[in-house]
Amino acid sequence: MTVVVFGSINRDLVMRVPRLPLAGETVAATSYDLLPGGKGANQAVAAARQGVPTVMLGAVGHDAHGDAMLAALAQAGVGTGAIARLPGPTGLAHVFVSDEGENQIVIVGGANAALPAPDVFPAGAAIAVAQAEVPTAAVARFLALAHEVGARTLYNAAPALAEGRAILPLADIVVVNETELAFFLGEAVPEGDTALAAAARRLMAREGQWVIVTLGGAGVIAEGPGGTVRLPARAVPVVDTTGAGDTFCGVLAARLAQGESMAQSLAVAVFAAGLSVQRLGAAASMPTRAEVDAGLALLDH
Ligand code: RIB
Repeated sequence: MTVVVFGSINRDLVMRVPRLPLAGETVAATSYDLLPGGKGANQAVAAARQGVPTVMLGAVGHDAHGDAMLAALAQAGVGTGAIARLPGPTGLAHVFVSDEGENQIVIVGGANAALPAPDVFPAGAAIAVAQAEVPTAAVARFLALAHEVGARTLYNAAPALAEGRAILPLADIVVVNETELAFFLGEAVPEGDTALAAAARRLMAREGQWVIVTLGGAGVIAEGPGGTVRLPARAVPVVDTTGAGDTFCGVLAARLAQGESMAQSLAVAVFAAGLSVQRLGAAASMPTRAEVDAGLALLDH
């Protein structure tokens, strides 16, 4: 029931700003933090914090950011033995977070951009998770290896890249947000659940696939073999939405790996993402299993 994540590892330089800067504008930040990030690393942390064995395949550079990221992943319980150390810098993200909790992110790929395709897929893994911040050919190879051993595959097509379209048929589960959905469909995302569900269906690359569209504070809509699952999110005070999608993907993978149904796993993942936005940081904001279960139990009463 192990989760294997193939993806990016970044150090996030997070600056709190009253509002996001416009082009050409200088804005004074009120604070900054160096925090663990990268969509791959974040999703691995989210899964591991659910108490599910999680292994990360990725790369860092030979620098202090790499040391810090390996330590942060290990502390979160993620298996780091297969993370390569490559020449050059570790991936870095400049993250601006406004008082409204909105963000703006610029990434420098560093070692992520040089991540080679894996030779082998970790034995016994139930679910393979990938995103689009590492080379597309390597992601394709990883997902193909996963299929060879019968593991389920989840592709979070973030950020949306034209070349990422070739990966969509390789995934059993595709996760996109509304911006990414619009990018791949080449049209604006329609309003209303019925139209959204139809748009999600249009992204399906093959029979039996799940297409899950995350809707931020409006929850999630998922189209798949079981029909449509539509789950709203709770209204919560938002501090920082960075990594909310990663929390969703990591928790979804963890719960699926444990044998929970898609509907159950989606509900837990939406709830966990709602917890993560109430704290600063990406990986740093991700809830533990105890926090998720306690929060869900309160909802039941
Ligand atoms: O999804 C959030 C992540 O995107 C940040 O942690 C940043 O590193 C970028 O990869």
